[in-house]
Amino acid sequence: ENTQLKDIVAHAKEYGFVFPSSEIYDGLQAVYDYGPNGVELKNNLKQLWWRAMTQLNQNVVGIDAAIFMHPLTWKASGHIDGFSDPMIDNLDSKKRYRADVLLEEKAAHYENVGDKVRADMLLADMGRLLTAEDLTGVRQLIIDEKIACPVSGTANWTEVRQFNLMFSTQVGSVEGDSTLIYLRPETAQGIFVNFLNVQKSARMKIPFGIAQIGKAFRNEIVARQFIFRMREFEQMEMQFFVRPGTEMEWYQQWKETRLRWHEALGLPAEKLRFHDHDKLAHYANAAVDIEFEFPFGFKEIEGIHSRTDFDLTQHQALSRKKQQFFDNDLDENGKAYGNYVPFVVETSVGADRLFLATLCQAYTEETITEGEGEQQQTKTRTVLRLHPALAPVKAAIFPLVRKDGLPEKATEIFDELRHDFRLVYEERDAIGKRYTRQDLIGTPFCIAVDHQTLEDNTITVRHRDLREQTRMPISELRNYIGEAVSF
Ligand code: GAP
Repeated sequence: ENTQLKDIVAHAKEYGFVFPSSEIYDGLQAVYDYGPNGVELKNNLKQLWWRAMTQLNQNVVGIDAAIFMHPLTWKASGHIDGFSDPMIDNLDSKKRYRADVLLEEKAAHYENVGDKVRADMLLADMGRLLTAEDLTGVRQLIIDEKIACPVSGTANWTEVRQFNLMFSTQVGSVEGDSTLIYLRPETAQGIFVNFLNVQKSARMKIPFGIAQIGKAFRNEIVARQFIFRMREFEQMEMQFFVRPGTEMEWYQQWKETRLRWHEALGLPAEKLRFHDHDKLAHYANAAVDIEFEFPFGFKEIEGIHSRTDFDLTQHQALSRKKQQFFDNDLDENGKAYGNYVPFVVETSVGADRLFLATLCQAYTEETITEGEGEQQQTKTRTVLRLHPALAPVKAAIFPLVRKDGLPEKATEIFDELRHDFRLVYEERDAIGKRYTRQDLIGTPFCIAVDHQTLEDNTITVRHRDLREQTRMPISELRNYIGEAVSF
């Protein structure tokens, strides 16, 4: 329970899950690379999500859109004008801050010292000023609260400016003939602009969904908490197109479905909660976060938003191409619903945040007792209690000793099962040490080949969590592992 984020960061690096990007050059802030075990875990998460969307729902199909999109996309979606954070620079410390974060921290300070009234007043003031975009007022509030700077006077703070979070680059190599384009800050728009392509080519009828997994980029200012907030990250989004007026039913349904999915992955119910948005984004008429209790508190892992017809209507206006669906179902008066711009309910989960949540949940340090009688000793072990479906390695195969034909027998089993599962074969070091190495990366089963195996074709299966061993015929292994790793 006392697990700190720093233990998880260190573990992730040491055992090949997550490395800082370009570490030999001292890293790049808020950018990370996935190592050999990390990429397996992340791929497993992505595959399970993809299957939950496109295989288990007959009316959800996938796409893989490009990261680069026509610049008008971001005009239509509102990102060029509205996807920004209010920033303020302190000229003494030469540091840049998010203005709202500064004020929130100050409010938390009042709350901590028992002045809840002041805290609430400050938050209310800030909410009012930010909504009105009265950035001069926000600046004055920061000065009045003497924030983060002991001699904070009027001269030490710059104006509050809106800082757009999108990364931009140029396409076209001829100078003067190049165009400014953006790296997508959400994958959703690749789905919206393909709405009719998908609907027509896959002959979808409303209600239906389009799912996508892909990179998104945001120039986050407050980049902290490891892979929780990154500048380059991966989203798994599904846009569900519905008949106007039915969106709230679908919103409720997807909310529940998505919460249950996180529970099935092994995130316990008591560490998951809904958080309704009071302040809605410009495109939404209802929005909720699914939050997970990380070592640093409850934080968002997924958003479910009822986006109305905002995006399709905007794209219709800027592209001058109709974004409508012809619905020939009949309403209660026997009249066809006809043409309309569908409403959208979206589910949007960050693959990296989900990765961090599953890693935090799995990471366990525990005291165990080993041996019997005189030889009994207690020690601590670190184990990743990952759902077997998520584990980077499903089973490790060990010959007890490196002689007497045991390696050959173990290799035979390895060769037989590797077509079905990701396995490792290890013969170096004492078997206890080999078990420990697998515990550290969350391998659910270790299979030991010993002298009895040569006589009766049985092996022992050692279970990661309880460390129990079961003896079983080799012929049962495939079913046994297969059942455990299915989801
Ligand atoms: N299309 C809607 C959308 O993008 P969002 O709430 O901005 O909504 C959805 O993002 C999810 O993407 C979040 O719940 C989070 O899991 C993930 N996400 C957003 N920004 C992120 C960042 N900087 N680093 C890692 N994940 C991020």
